[in-house]
Amino acid sequence: MPYCLKERATYLRELADDPDCDRTTLYNTYIQFKTLNLISSRWQSIYEVYIRPWLQIEERTLTLLDVGCGGGDIALAIAEWVAQDNLSLKITAIDTDIRAINFTNSQSNPHHVEFLNVSTSQLVAQNRSFDFVISNHFLHHLNSNELKDILIESEHLATKMVLFNDIERSALLYYYYAALGLVLEPFFPQSFIWVDGCRSIRRGYTRSELLTIANDHWQVKRLFFSRLLLIYTP
Ligand SMILES: C[S@@+](CC[C@H](N)C(=O)[O-])C[C@H]1O[C@@H](n2cnc3c(N)ncnc32)[C@H](O)[C@@H]1O
Repeated sequence: MPYCLKERATYLRELADDPDCDRTTLYNTYIQFKTLNLISSRWQSIYEVYIRPWLQIEERTLTLLDVGCGGGDIALAIAEWVAQDNLSLKITAIDTDIRAINFTNSQSNPHHVEFLNVSTSQLVAQNRSFDFVISNHFLHHLNSNELKDILIESEHLATKMVLFNDIERSALLYYYYAALGLVLEPFFPQSFIWVDGCRSIRRGYTRSELLTIANDHWQVKRLFFSRLLLIYTP
């Protein structure tokens, strides 16, 4: 692995995380992540393999929590797949950044998807639970202690399964993404998507780092391409 990717670059901050960043650029980034996530994040197959089978066998409406929802595109995409399958799921999507929640709540959302500005710790304190707890591109935001805490909290919150999906720090992904950015940047105007994507990859965990932090009840699966799915089943 090249020197700049050997260790997690925890000193790098994503431009979107700067509370003073330009609001239009931030909102563009939320919107553009929808396209990028659809192409790269593999959520449709994760939904089909891990979530849909439960919805098909349970008679009651199951619940799902999306942690670090950003612009809310994953929660809304899952709601759409559930509707297409004629099934039901109540979705709560949370983010500790009020700008993300203001953005999501300014869109027209289905009534069974709610966006809240709360943390996982607050939900644990309220004794809340959800059948599924998921996240996308969230783990790399956390240092190893924060990650340990989130894993413990999600073990409390989830009754059926936790599915945390994130990029794996790898040279192949980093150079591929940087090259893609050079070509596609003109099609994603006024956006943090390329700079923050590269920083996210440099902040990402490797499979072995995740396995070291998570306890034995967690598995880490590799997904195409350079993605890791951290799974917990109670
Ligand atoms: C890179 S964004 C991912 C957004 C979205 N899940 C996606 O895939 O497009 C990560 C989000 O996690 C949020 N976040 C960071 N730390 C958090 C925490 N401890 N609890 C909840 N959200 C957090 C950030 O505010 C940010 O919106």
